[in-house]
Amino acid sequence: MLKGKPETGWLAGGIIIRSILPGFRSPLVAMPFLPQPLPLSLPLLYCFRPRPPPRYPPWAVIGLIGHLSSVICHLPFTLSLRCLITAGPTREFFDPVRFLSNPSTGKMGFALATAAKEAGWSVDLVAGPVSLPEPAGVMVYPVVTAAEMQRQADALFGPCDVLIMTAAVSDWRPKTTAPQKLKKDGQGMTVELEPVPDIVSALAEERRTDQFLVGFAAETENVEAHALDKLERKGLDLIAANSVAGPEGAFGSDENKLILLGRNGFREVIGPASKAAVARQLIAVIARLVAARAS
Ligand code: C5P
Repeated sequence: MLKGKPETGWLAGGIIIRSILPGFRSPLVAMPFLPQPLPLSLPLLYCFRPRPPPRYPPWAVIGLIGHLSSVICHLPFTLSLRCLITAGPTREFFDPVRFLSNPSTGKMGFALATAAKEAGWSVDLVAGPVSLPEPAGVMVYPVVTAAEMQRQADALFGPCDVLIMTAAVSDWRPKTTAPQKLKKDGQGMTVELEPVPDIVSALAEERRTDQFLVGFAAETENVEAHALDKLERKGLDLIAANSVAGPEGAFGSDENKLILLGRNGFREVIGPASKAAVARQLIAVIARLVAARAS
């Protein structure tokens, strides 16, 4: 079919080369000063003429835009979550110099704030009285009592995507606080206590459905059973249960082991490892669950 005229062979060859190498330019076109037989150069010039970049069909363009927009929509969940963390104990005073509290040092909450910041999240950290350096790049809001922690958490909760309540909030507070230091008289004394409002439960009632709420359960016995009860009762998405029993317990230690319990039977164990390593893994799990829920 292609036998006979040499131009037909050149033309076919040109088309084949162009289809394999679209950007290929004939050396004959590049060197027009060389003597070239006109019938040969015309089909070559046609085959190797400069062409605009390939045009994509509309369905391919629509597909590409759809893909890009889904990537962009997921960016906030994977890259720039806004996170509110509470950490440390609270103090509930019954006179100006005496209070009810617990041995929480805030290490787990501060490690989480650091890990979240490293993950590219913006972090607000509401911290009870602790002696820890402020994590770089984190907004720290110091508080003392549960009531102060509740006010501060309330103010910061609206714009946050993830709430992590690691704070060991005092469960009771004295019903009254003496204005001056109470004097010893050699006698015993009774302090009447009242329950402190549950901060995370109150926040869970006003939450948006896209917000992700994580609680911590510090337990001395039946760790998983108590934690599961709190997951349900407090309206959380995830609870991190840890043992605070005995000298190996989480309070004050540099190591921790967390049993993560979530909705639909989710269960994952992190550690035992340093609190910094545990924190990084927990932030990664939260990022994964938030992204999975958003998709
Ligand atoms: O003290 P409890 O074991 O109930 O704490 C479980 C979770 O509830 C923790 O995340 C803690 O920060 C939170 N909590 C709270 N307000 C309280 C007591 C606990 O938000 N008054």
